[in-house]
Amino acid sequence: MNIVIVGAGAIGSLFGALLSKKNTVVLVGRAPHISAIQHNGLNITGKTHLHVKLSAVESVKDVAISANLIILTVKSYDTETTIKQIVPQIQEETAIISLQNGLDNIEKMEHIFDKDRILAGVTTHGAIFSHPGVIRHTGKGKTILGAIDGSQSKQLKNIVHLFNEAGIEAQASDDIIKEIWAKAIINSSINPLTAFFNCKNGYLLENPLLEKSVEIICKESTCIAQAEGVPLTALDMIHRTKEVINNTSKNYSSMLQSIQQGKKTEIDSINGKLITIGRQHRIDTSLNKILVELVTSLTDIYK
Ligand code: PAF
Repeated sequence: MNIVIVGAGAIGSLFGALLSKKNTVVLVGRAPHISAIQHNGLNITGKTHLHVKLSAVESVKDVAISANLIILTVKSYDTETTIKQIVPQIQEETAIISLQNGLDNIEKMEHIFDKDRILAGVTTHGAIFSHPGVIRHTGKGKTILGAIDGSQSKQLKNIVHLFNEAGIEAQASDDIIKEIWAKAIINSSINPLTAFFNCKNGYLLENPLLEKSVEIICKESTCIAQAEGVPLTALDMIHRTKEVINNTSKNYSSMLQSIQQGKKTEIDSINGKLITIGRQHRIDTSLNKILVELVTSLTDIYK
């Protein structure tokens, strides 16, 4: 299959390397990572050891293959710009998967693409951008894929098979929206807390105060999901969040990595979006508000 991965950050590069074992993969990202891949190939260290040679370009315009599958792994604040750029690459049969953090990517995609073309996925793998051309796989996780209309198409089954064949443990869901919510709830505590306290994911369960914080944030975020009609329970979400923390204990969350690199964070698409939805339902969002304030002040300091 011809696969284009737009967003060659830690997760995009990891998945690109794994998928390139049996497929033609083009990574789209930024210098100096892309130039390092062009010259020396892409190295994955940590939980996965791999050195692959694959095509890497800095602009969607330079993608020279006709894509069967486009995987979006850009940060959520870049979704709108990116989807406009990929429109010319879309053929009749091209599937598009958003494999991003946040609660607002699908609505942005729906403005441009037909609903039945859009697939989405969530992953709990942990990966760190080590240095240009090198990604450290810090935690193995699971990946869930689904069509946003819930249909179980042959195309979806093929993509799930392709991921599993590449060593990316994947399964299909007929309620991917629920999984996107679950992932956002997981991110709503791990990402801002690790960003603010400048710690690895695992520290959140080593420090009793932070463990308590994880639990109460999980509860608040799950209440917002429930008000929106998403059938998730706080107890289960606390359990799932702790499981992700344990499996990615050595990871620096994507939000902390953004702060460390002086980049914008996804706080608005995760906690910010939870606040907006919570407000619509008159649900308490005070913890999410504090987290947005804290991470925004941090971003301003390190700008
Ligand atoms: O955003 C992240 O960092 C990841 O989604 C996760 C799974 C929390 C691991 O760090």
